Amino acid sequence: MLDQQSKDAERKASNAEDESNRKPIIIAPSVFACDFSRIGEEIKRAENAGADWFHIDIMDGHFVDNFSLGPAVAESIAKVATVPLDVHLMIDRPDHFFSRFQRFVRNITFHVEVPCDTAATARAIRASGCTVGLAISPPTPFTKVEPFLDQVDLLLVMTVNPGFGGQAFIPEMMEKVTAARKLRDRQGLDFHIEVDGGIVPATAPIVREAGANVLVAGTSVFHVTDPAKAITQLRG
Ligand code: DX5
Ligand code: ZN
Repeated sequence: MLDQQSKDAERKASNAEDESNRKPIIIAPSVFACDFSRIGEEIKRAENAGADWFHIDIMDGHFVDNFSLGPAVAESIAKVATVPLDVHLMIDRPDHFFSRFQRFVRNITFHVEVPCDTAATARAIRASGCTVGLAISPPTPFTKVEPFLDQVDLLLVMTVNPGFGGQAFIPEMMEKVTAARKLRDRQGLDFHIEVDGGIVPATAPIVREAGANVLVAGTSVFHVTDPAKAITQLRG
């Protein structure tokens, strides 16, 4: 009995500690899912619906099997949007291309799987005045990002294989989110934990519970009739 009571007390204390380390939820609609023929209106509509950031996917046809937007379109978005822009580089040479975005975005994320020096690229992005994010694709083990988490402002745990919107959420990725949250607490770090892919009102509670605080959402914000309701549901 006493044992059970002390276990309960321990669990409560550890939950309370977890709670105190939680960051506010940020909803980042992914512009890749919008109607590109009306991009300015789509941005305004999502902002009015409560978007906290915009997530902009950049693809090169090499790192992923698709193309999306480039710096010119991203800059046009920056002229319309009033919230911070979060760029997700799904490209082989983030070290070469990040500077094309640095003037008008808040955060630049690149993938740990690409063939460039991760620590040097993170340093260069920070030196440009932007915050830096590191992304990890579903097949890559968490140990690959672990050595860099004290050098980044955000960890992006991909919850689908990068390249396409509208894919199904991969729940096994929550192990990485949990591992990241624990490491952050243990080492007294402060990076955001972002998830991207298949984030809809039904999967949002799973990622929030695991410890993610930045939720990227394409289809579930841009392909619905009531984006404000969707954003409220995602925020929880
Ligand atoms: C996928 C992109 C995502 C995508 C998410 O490679 O990184 O940002 O737009 O789309 P949904 O929310 O539809 O899965
Ligand atoms: Zn993305």
